[in-house]
Amino acid sequence: MRNSYLFFLLSFLCLFACQDDLIEAGTTTPTVEPTEPTIDLTPPAGTQFIEATPQRNGDPQKGYEYLITGDYVASGPPLDLYLQILGGDDSNELNRTGKNADLPHFLNAVPAFNGVEVAAANCLTCHSEYLDGQLIVGLGNNSFDYTQNRGADNSLLANALTLAYGENAPERLAYEPFRRATAVLSDQLITEIQGVNPAGKLAVVLGAHRNLETLDWSDTPQYPIPEATIPSDVPPWWHTKKKNALYYTGVGRGDHSRTIMAASILTLQSIEEAEKIDQNFPDVLAYLKTIEPPRYPSPVNIEMMERGKNIFNLECAKCHGTYGDEDTYPNLLVGLDVIKTDPLLATSNYGYDSFLSSYNSSWFGQGANGAKLVATNGYIAPPLDGIWATAPYLHNGSVPTLEDLLNREQRPTFWQRNFDSSDLDYEKVGWNYSERNAGNVKTIYDTTLPGYGNQGHIYGDRLSAEERSDLIEYLKTL
Ligand code: HEC
Ligand code: HEC
Repeated sequence: MRNSYLFFLLSFLCLFACQDDLIEAGTTTPTVEPTEPTIDLTPPAGTQFIEATPQRNGDPQKGYEYLITGDYVASGPPLDLYLQILGGDDSNELNRTGKNADLPHFLNAVPAFNGVEVAAANCLTCHSEYLDGQLIVGLGNNSFDYTQNRGADNSLLANALTLAYGENAPERLAYEPFRRATAVLSDQLITEIQGVNPAGKLAVVLGAHRNLETLDWSDTPQYPIPEATIPSDVPPWWHTKKKNALYYTGVGRGDHSRTIMAASILTLQSIEEAEKIDQNFPDVLAYLKTIEPPRYPSPVNIEMMERGKNIFNLECAKCHGTYGDEDTYPNLLVGLDVIKTDPLLATSNYGYDSFLSSYNSSWFGQGANGAKLVATNGYIAPPLDGIWATAPYLHNGSVPTLEDLLNREQRPTFWQRNFDSSDLDYEKVGWNYSERNAGNVKTIYDTTLPGYGNQGHIYGDRLSAEERSDLIEYLKTL
């Protein structure tokens, strides 16, 4: 008893002072320690470290409340009408109270600018998703269908509101900011396939329709809007705590709380309102930083996993960091010429000068807590926490499973999934899918389309099939 106490004390002191002497200081015969597996953390050529910038602190609990009940989007159809026509949603998956309890998780019951209670879209529209039937807040939506132009529905609703309440009725006016935004967006956000997200383009379009100084709405765009809609996947919120620059390309710098309130530009009416919303976003950011990924639900093979960990530490950790109790994350931007994945997300909207410079010189980019958008010519090597749960892979969601990602030859050119959140492949890790011969169907991912390519990131190619399986076994545990 006493001995083990002494040993504990010694080891503890030795942690700080004399790591190498530990065995000599003890009373047992020295044994040969197994050599620690090598971890290669040298940043590869063509990568650039992104430094941390100071961030505002907040209260996570308040942030969560604000996310699921707050008025950062403050326009939409009148709540009563919404409930009357569509009926209440009795699942109350977020356990909300009051009128929010009757709404689906992606809508908040909030007062519009003129006091009318409306059903307004919230961040969970894109930042929550079902996984094996369970709603996970912070998991990127990977099933929404943006292939349809929904503009007609919105103007139909506007007309119905005019008929029901009158042209200048408060109920109709409360819908107006949402209507005018969706009117300019509707034909700009159409994707080629289901499941990918056009939010990058959304920012560019809405930015164009604002006066820079006042944030007032402008019906005519302030800069030409690029034609292409380049799709992306939606990254999980549990990455936020590790990342020094937000978004796939690392374009989001400066104050992250300011950056992530961007969705409010949908219906924002004044700088005064923006400042009120902004005060809540340090809390939202604090909440995002508390989110942990879901755990892989099935047993893993420990021996394979251990071998896979060694492979990971040699081949992957230099870009993606290390995992476990004391994880590290290098925050590296990897140049397009090195990563060679589809370049269009980096070079189109997020690389569009007119958009970036307007944003940076607007209220969003100014002041003590200004955000800043910086064009990059590459993609951030993302954290891989909870990677088993975030298929499909790469920034555009072009690769259905980890096994395919780690073996370029196996990546399907055309693939189709059924969008059932339980249809998971626990072996290859990702979605079950069928390979097809051509695209042209919205549920078939067509990697030959511009922006939808599945090339690049070939770091798994040189592994043997056995090494790849070991590596995947380890990736399941992150
Ligand atoms: C219309 C869909 C949509 C809505 C609504 C939306 N987001 Fe996003 N969000 C995205 C997409 C897509 C990305 C990835 C863009 C990229 O990285 O290029 C993203 C990225 C992010 C990131 C960066 C994550 C990372 O790893 O870099 C954060 C944080 C975030 N959003 C927070 C929010 C918050 C908070 C709200 C609500 C105020 C919100 N988003 C509303 C689609 C959306
Ligand atoms: C040179 C740096 C680098 C190395 C080495 C590297 N990666 Fe990556 N990885 C990246 C970048 C950058 C991305 C994002 C590319 C994109 O989305 O276009 C990425 C993306 C990924 C993704 C997809 C993430 C997601 O959310 O979709 C996985 C999984 C992944 N890497 C695993 C690995 C594994 C396993 C290894 C080792 C065999 C490895 N990577 C080696 C830079 C690297």
